[in-house]
Amino acid sequence: MKLMITGHTGLLGSKILAKSRFQTYPDRRIDITTPEIIHYIQEVAPDMVIHCAAFTNVDLCETQKDKAWLTNVTGTENVVTACASLHAKLVYISTDFVFDGTGKMYTEEDTPNPINYYGMTKLEGERIVQEMDDSLIVRTSVLYGWHHHLNFVTWVLSQLQSEKHIRIVTDQYTCPTLADNFAEVLLDLCKKDVMGLYHVTGTERITRYDFAREIANIFGLDDSFMTPVRSEDLAQKAPRPRDSSLSTQKIKAIIDTPLLSVKEGLQEMKKVSQ
Ligand SMILES: NC(=O)c1ccc[n+]([C@@H]2O[C@H](COP(=O)([O-])OP(=O)(O)OC[C@H]3O[C@@H](n4cnc5c(N)ncnc54)[C@H](OP(=O)(O)O)[C@@H]3O)[C@@H](O)[C@H]2O)c1
Repeated sequence: MKLMITGHTGLLGSKILAKSRFQTYPDRRIDITTPEIIHYIQEVAPDMVIHCAAFTNVDLCETQKDKAWLTNVTGTENVVTACASLHAKLVYISTDFVFDGTGKMYTEEDTPNPINYYGMTKLEGERIVQEMDDSLIVRTSVLYGWHHHLNFVTWVLSQLQSEKHIRIVTDQYTCPTLADNFAEVLLDLCKKDVMGLYHVTGTERITRYDFAREIANIFGLDDSFMTPVRSEDLAQKAPRPRDSSLSTQKIKAIIDTPLLSVKEGLQEMKKVSQ
């Protein structure tokens, strides 16, 4: 099977690329916001595309709305156009931020209601993908792992290792997900030819602050450099859902790959410490 990954240099894309046993493309970055991506996908003619490319900085999406829409919506439209013309299957990676966070442990049946622009554009992407026959939409949450760009875990590690003080919120709940574990689940779903909408995250609902304490604990770092704060103290550009935890009951019934707890995910990372 020929597999194409958009965003193959990103955190998730690079993990899928490393783990895939399929014949995997691309070998270079193609801008998904231009028609070139349509021509490239049609030329390679993959059986399946995992669409990871996105403008993922939640605060920048709030201040650079045109770029956010162009990347997350127009870019997705381009990928859908190419896949539909080839009858290739499309796997779209979406986010817990499609929910407003007034509930918790959201299921696939719950109604999205994004409260920031990033979430709005990702939801619009879902709507476009849902118009295809052969599609799988997978929502995930707070991806982390080793990567050349910082994510929450590598940022906390870098700050604590250099003994810098950091402020972490105690009132935002998510289900952090090791990107390597998520990549395995996605490849499992590709093999099984699963379609529809699924939530795939780590097994634990946890606050950012408790997550950061667990990071310090597993990596043997001093957590006294961390100050607990409330969301309103951080003045983030984009509002965050208070609780965007996702239920994984539906996916657990069909996958062989075990989903990892926070401790298990961080221990996996520590094993391959960089
Ligand atoms: N990170 C999270 O916590 C999280 C949580 C839930 C859902 N998700 C979703 O999961 C997916 C993967 O996230 P990630 O954390 O792996 O993202 P990431 O590390 O920020 O990587 C994004 C990738 O998209 C590429 N990209 C951005 N704009 C592009 C464009 N116009 N044309 C082509 N490529 C472009 C980037 O390449 P360049 O660097 O070269 O621009 C990079 O390879 C995204 O769809 C995201 O919305 C992420």
